[in-house]
Amino acid sequence: MYLVTGATGSLGRRIVRQLRENEQPVKAFVRLSSSFGELEDRGAEIFIGDLKEERDIVKACRDVKYIISSHGSGKDAQALDYRANIDLIDRAVANNVEHFVFISVLGVDRGYQDSATFKAKREVEKYLIASGLSYTILRPSGFANNIIPLAERFRDTGIYFSIGDQKNRSSIVSTDDLAKIAIASTQIEAAKNQIFAVGGPDILKREDIPRILARLFNREPIVINPPLELFDGLRIGVGLINPQLNKSLGTLRTLLANEFFCTIDEIARLESTFEMKMESLESFLHRYVGQ
Ligand SMILES: NC(=O)c1ccc[n+]([C@@H]2O[C@H](COP(=O)([O-])OP(=O)(O)OC[C@H]3O[C@@H](n4cnc5c(N)ncnc54)[C@H](OP(=O)(O)O)[C@@H]3O)[C@@H](O)[C@H]2O)c1
Repeated sequence: MYLVTGATGSLGRRIVRQLRENEQPVKAFVRLSSSFGELEDRGAEIFIGDLKEERDIVKACRDVKYIISSHGSGKDAQALDYRANIDLIDRAVANNVEHFVFISVLGVDRGYQDSATFKAKREVEKYLIASGLSYTILRPSGFANNIIPLAERFRDTGIYFSIGDQKNRSSIVSTDDLAKIAIASTQIEAAKNQIFAVGGPDILKREDIPRILARLFNREPIVINPPLELFDGLRIGVGLINPQLNKSLGTLRTLLANEFFCTIDEIARLESTFEMKMESLESFLHRYVGQ
């Protein structure tokens, strides 16, 4: 039995779908407020709980062989990125879970102090490595599904909105590929006790994305590119009214201000370990929003 946290999220939903396509038993950790009907229809066991509640984690971890931690944090990195993962790891140890897959983030080891999420994920990585569990840590770049709403707006209006330096590079990863890798990590010997940077096959500059969309939809892009300083100014303004929101914008600021791309060697290692070819952003978008 697999336990998947964040099962209604962009990644978790894909993990559950793929597991069910392969007729694997899966317990989907969901909140009552979320829409989980599709997961139930696919034959997933639905576990309703809140990852902020340790007793829900204790209960969810009973009778599971593999745990894939793929939940996100919203605004509460302390409770969700950090504490919930520590609790999951503790329960995995107590229940002799065979393998634990943790979805971290590319650049987690660069010491970004402005992002509670990056700091939490790094601490969880260390805790997992020291736990004695068999583990795989995946450090993905930005997910391709994030681009879908931008692509849909581009298709309808020709407008593409992107903050900050357009030369910044990333290795946007197909969310379907990442789901496949997360599942395969529980089975492939060479993935045991390893950390992988996970990205798409291409190193893309931000300015490449509207070009891809222009090819997909055969229209000229109108790029709106506010500078990062505008974001910083707004953040300071927000901070005067809501200091907590200001803090939680630190992760977004970190993502906007820095580059998150995988090296050619990292992609080669990924493709050879998991025996797959990583999908390009263009192909992903073509499948989801192409004409
Ligand atoms: N998105 C990216 O570009 C990116 C890049 C690198 C790494 N990552 C990491 O990849 C992971 C998955 O990201 P994602 O984009 O798929 O996340 P997402 O779409 O934002 O989904 C977050 C999931 O966490 C669940 N969740 C939030 N609070 C919860 C709580 N208190 N109890 C139970 N479940 C809760 C949400 O449930 P509800 O449906 O109930 O809200 C949802 O299923 C995260 O760890 C993220 O940090 C993401």
